[in-house]
Amino acid sequence: MDLSVEFAGIRLRNPTMLASGILGISYEVMKRVYDAGAGAVVSKSISVEPREGYRGPIIVKVDSGYVNAVGLANPGIDHFVHELSMYGYDKGYAYATQDNRSNNSDDRMPIIVNLVGSSIDEFVSMVKRLDHLSIVGYELNLSCPHVERVGLEVGDDPELVSRIIKGIRAVTSKPIIAKLGLGAVDMLEVAKAAIDSGADAVTAINTVRAMVIDVETCMPVLSNKVGGLSGRAIKPIAIRCVYEMYRAGVPVIGCGGIYDWRDAVEFMLAGAYAVQIGSAIGDGWLDVFREVNDGIREYLAKKGLKSIRELIGIAHRY
Ligand SMILES: Cc1cc2nc3c(=O)[nH]c(=O)nc-3n(C[C@H](O)[C@H](O)[C@H](O)COP(=O)(O)O)c2cc1C
Repeated sequence: MDLSVEFAGIRLRNPTMLASGILGISYEVMKRVYDAGAGAVVSKSISVEPREGYRGPIIVKVDSGYVNAVGLANPGIDHFVHELSMYGYDKGYAYATQDNRSNNSDDRMPIIVNLVGSSIDEFVSMVKRLDHLSIVGYELNLSCPHVERVGLEVGDDPELVSRIIKGIRAVTSKPIIAKLGLGAVDMLEVAKAAIDSGADAVTAINTVRAMVIDVETCMPVLSNKVGGLSGRAIKPIAIRCVYEMYRAGVPVIGCGGIYDWRDAVEFMLAGAYAVQIGSAIGDGWLDVFREVNDGIREYLAKKGLKSIRELIGIAHRY
């Protein structure tokens, strides 16, 4: 059964994506994820300047997932444009691998570039640098500290989100996806501001603020003290967010605690058009993409549904 999905101007061979921040910097590594069955890959958050991130420890395993504070470490926009150009994304087509060069556009790995910034200018300048590349579109990580309002994140200011998206919309026709977390402001309000300003979809959710303390040393484990919780623990929260987005007519990509096909189907029943997977591959388990896609295929057949489209939002009938 065909698992392809089409939403927000994006067409994918199946509804699974690599979530941002997990393996998403080098082309070769992202290609391994694509070859393992993902429908698309989302890059790690890229910023204007390279960022070293926090010193270790930056990630700690907890019962239900991870708590991480990486500090948005990334090589910066210039490096990333160079990386994608080396693999043909500046030529309208992409190479299958460095050794196996091909100009067959069907080989192209769909890349969504995740951007992080703290001002309109930063986001707009990065989109201008990337827009000639044959990438699918942009996902905006709005969980960056707000420059003017200390303690808040960019995504906590719907008015700033709106201005950022209008600024980006003015310089690109590619899809724009706003990635939202549980911030200080109702997520639905931010989502609506994003869509009304020209975003095509939202991703829900980013990690949830969390902390781990070592009882022997009595110290916070992460060097940044506070980090973001991902994995199984946040799934019910993410399902609720996706459900609310769908009900409000916001096209949504679900993310948070997907480890198998049941989790993915649950997100689709809530209204997700596609799903992103992060923590589940934390231990290097790339087969999760194949497991999820095979499971969705069998589920559709068992339920007598003809396409993914028919699955999306079914829970809203009840
Ligand atoms: C180690 C790690 C690094 C992450 N880095 C980013 C990032 O750079 N940008 C971003 O938007 N989200 C980042 N995330 C959040 C994930 O993309 C995802 O939203 C979150 O982990 C929930 O999904 P999961 O439960 O499947 O991991 C990161 C998550 C983890 C665990």
